[in-house]
Amino acid sequence: MSDLSAKLKKATDLKSGIKRLTLTDFRNYQSLRINSDICPIVITGENGAGKTNILEAISLLTPGRGLRGSKLADIKRISEEDNLLGNNTWSVAAEVLKNEEEHTIGTTLQKLTREENDNESHTIDRRIVKIDGQKTIQQAELGKYISAIWITPQMDRLFLGGTQPRRAFLDRLVYAFDNEHAKRTADFEHLYRQWVQLLKSGCQDYNWLQSLEADMAALGVAIAAARREQIARLNTFITAEPDDVFPDVRLELDGSIEKNAQQSLGFGCRRLLP
Ligand SMILES: Nc1ncnc2c1ncn2[C@@H]1O[C@H](COP(=O)(O)OP(=O)(O)OP(=O)(O)O)[C@@H](O)[C@H]1O
Ligand SMILES: [Mg+2]
Repeated sequence: MSDLSAKLKKATDLKSGIKRLTLTDFRNYQSLRINSDICPIVITGENGAGKTNILEAISLLTPGRGLRGSKLADIKRISEEDNLLGNNTWSVAAEVLKNEEEHTIGTTLQKLTREENDNESHTIDRRIVKIDGQKTIQQAELGKYISAIWITPQMDRLFLGGTQPRRAFLDRLVYAFDNEHAKRTADFEHLYRQWVQLLKSGCQDYNWLQSLEADMAALGVAIAAARREQIARLNTFITAEPDDVFPDVRLELDGSIEKNAQQSLGFGCRRLLP
């Protein structure tokens, strides 16, 4: 057995993955069901057949905006008859096996109409999540059942461009090991948006600003620590599994919080490093 197949066998022996995937009004699929074993799967087909759409559907079973980062409304299958019916939603559902336990998870677009005042109302799109029959708006919950990472052609400048996409990529790696991380990053973004809004509005409520900043600082440190732990895990893996072809790399995080964390707190990454 080759090295690669031995590793794949080891991964599949863990028995975690998707057993059944169901798409409804998702991109070009009115209705699609895929039943599979927990095993590596290769999807082939003509250009435009809908291969990436399937991967995008799976990516939406993890926290975040999915593989394409699309607007929720754009994912809805476009068809003439649906426009007449006014059916504007889509859904993805899956039966997953996680550590030998079965769960049903799913996500759907929900339209909420909000009354602004007596005459006006507006509709907002939000993604809701269902786990074993329980509805939640906390996408981070999905991270407990499934994790996924992707490298797409659009990401080929990941290591050359700005730092934000790189941080987002690293965060997705962290989700796979740390269930709380998706909630941390989502909460941080939420606080950050409030903070920017507050500054823009010229608000003079310094207590409010301070309380937001204190919460952001606490979350920021926790996020930095989790990222550092992940980098340490990767470095451990690289040392333990040297590549025969490319020289080994040593990964480092460059950031003031990360560096302070290393010096003053000695986070768990030290423990993880060989
Ligand atoms: N909202 C939508 N409603 C209906 N069809 C859609 C929607 N969004 C995308 N499509 C269709 O999905 C198809 C593209 O699917 P996808 O990107 O998965 O193809 P692919 O198999 O990955 O192709 P390639 O081999 O070129 O990467 C196109 O035919 C497009 O018209
Ligand atoms: Mg494609």
